Amino acid sequence: MPADIASRTDIESLLTKFYERAFADDVIGFIFTEITHLDLATHLPVIANFWEDILLGTHHYHGNPVKVHLEIDRLSELNENQFNRWLFLWQITVDRYFTGPIADEARHRANNIAKVMIAKILQKRQ
Ligand code: HEM
Repeated sequence: MPADIASRTDIESLLTKFYERAFADDVIGFIFTEITHLDLATHLPVIANFWEDILLGTHHYHGNPVKVHLEIDRLSELNENQFNRWLFLWQITVDRYFTGPIADEARHRANNIAKVMIAKILQKRQ
């Protein structure tokens, strides 16, 4: 029986599993491997800071995710279908490894953030 997300280590392992799927994905994989050549060794700690703040109440992340994704959109236009795919991969990865209120929060917050992000991207493009 999986346990809930309870530590930085849990978040790092969730992100590692998630990006394994995302990099290999037919719909969004190319954005990581061909458009941005994302170096996970550098980025995973930053993204872990983001999620640790949201899920465990720390204050480590000082970035601007909307701005970062607007920059990606300039390299290769992002669309709702890709965001839905990102969310689907996130939901199944959370479900596969964790269960409990923090895991529910991880799914719920990703959903809200993704909706805001894509809305801002589409709005900025007009
Ligand atoms: C189609 C959907 C998405 C794609 C293709 C995508 C892709 C990426 C890529 C390539 C980066 C690294 C950018 C760089 O080179 O600096 C990144 C960073 C990041 N992504 Fe996403 N992303 C998506 C959706 C999301 C969503 C929904 C969230 C949050 C719920 C999220 C959270 C983050 C965070 C926190 C960072 C780090 C930002 C920073 O460097 O400060 N992403 N994303």
